[in-house]
Amino acid sequence: ETGMFTYDPGFTSTASCESTITFIDGDKGELLYRGFPIDQLAENSHFLEVCYLLLYGELPSAAQLEDFEMRVTRHTMLHEQMVNFFRGFRRDAHPMAVVCGVVGAMSAFYHDSTDITDPWQREVASIRMIAKLPTICAWAYKYSIGQPFVYPRNDLDYAANFLHMCFAVPCEEYVVNPVMARAMDRIMTLHADHEQNASTSTVRLAGSSNANPFACIAAGVACLWGPAHGGANQACLEMLQEIGTVDQIPEYIRRAKDKDDPFRLMGFGHRVYKNYDPRAKVMQETAKEVLELVGVENDPTLQVAQELERIALEDEYFVEKKLYPNVDFYSGIVLNAMGFPTSMFTAIFALSRTVGWIAQWKEMVEDPVQRIGRPRQLYTGAARREYVNVEDR
Ligand code: SDX
Repeated sequence: ETGMFTYDPGFTSTASCESTITFIDGDKGELLYRGFPIDQLAENSHFLEVCYLLLYGELPSAAQLEDFEMRVTRHTMLHEQMVNFFRGFRRDAHPMAVVCGVVGAMSAFYHDSTDITDPWQREVASIRMIAKLPTICAWAYKYSIGQPFVYPRNDLDYAANFLHMCFAVPCEEYVVNPVMARAMDRIMTLHADHEQNASTSTVRLAGSSNANPFACIAAGVACLWGPAHGGANQACLEMLQEIGTVDQIPEYIRRAKDKDDPFRLMGFGHRVYKNYDPRAKVMQETAKEVLELVGVENDPTLQVAQELERIALEDEYFVEKKLYPNVDFYSGIVLNAMGFPTSMFTAIFALSRTVGWIAQWKEMVEDPVQRIGRPRQLYTGAARREYVNVEDR
């Protein structure tokens, strides 16, 4: 039940790992952060409090929360020389390419928090990444649209600060709508951690070699980018926009079931959930709130999504294979309504998941018995054979 597997008497491989951070019951569609249900946290908590919970294992007291928020707030600025780093990218680079590059480069700017054997440096690196990822993602967006960087502000909360850095311009005051900020905060909470998904496993494996924390998080960003993983929110909205109207849905359902057609319903299915992803339920409610705020409650993509979900959940193929909407099914609709281009969707997933990657990385590097990861393989290649000279082949 710990997920530890022994392949043979002489070799114990951690094909999985032991963790106390996040629990998923895929059959029941349950997700717990340190034992607390995700829907209760989304409703009653806020992202920085959830960060504290994931990092330290308990909900903070008021004083602990105030201190943590102050420490994060005071690390939101980037080393000014990183501005030149951003300017080295092409303007049309995908934001995830920029985020992956800049996060990986952080060890070159913050080398006083790269020694993983020093608890203080581990703590500072963790706070720095939680604090700086919104700035990095916002600046990647600003750079892609040719607008000047907007610096973080200490008078705004975490989600509002991110929205301000994305949408404010020097020419006029930008006031963050509190409903938008609350919706963004909830999106960050929903994406904060998800036990041993592909990108978190990547971070753990990179961390098991004692690589510096910034390089490990950059590896997680790279893995998350894939359309089968974190890139699904971008792919899902583009799919909904391609479907266009509800009368086109049956054709896409047919294609999704056709084994000869590589098309899959983006935002549907999951490696673990064989029931409704609890995050998708909260995300659907958030989508309705944001669309109503921006006055597009009749947004065609939401109508297509809701009708697609209704049809799919009644279709025997999806029922038999236990395919339900996942977190990415509605998140793209919300982010699109907020004004983000699809190219920013996975970057927002990455900044939200950074705390989960860090919590899992810290848990692993602070485990006194952890060893370098070495997943086993099942060799199915050629048996031993002798070399053949080229003239004899
Ligand atoms: C995330 O792991 C995590 O925790 C990830 C994540 C997180 O928070 O970190 O939750 C975030 O990555 C969510 C998933 C986002 N990806 C997508 O929405 C892309 C579309 N989904 C599929 O690519 C797929 O469902 C996966 C990749 C998510 C899961 O792949 P699996 O493990 O192959 O899916 P499965 O075992 O549940 O599939 C069972 C069957 C398969 O058919 P058979 O081989 O048994 O005949 O259902 C089929 C699949 O081909 N299937 C689909 C489908 N998803 C699975 N068929 C059509 N459309 C789909 N979306």
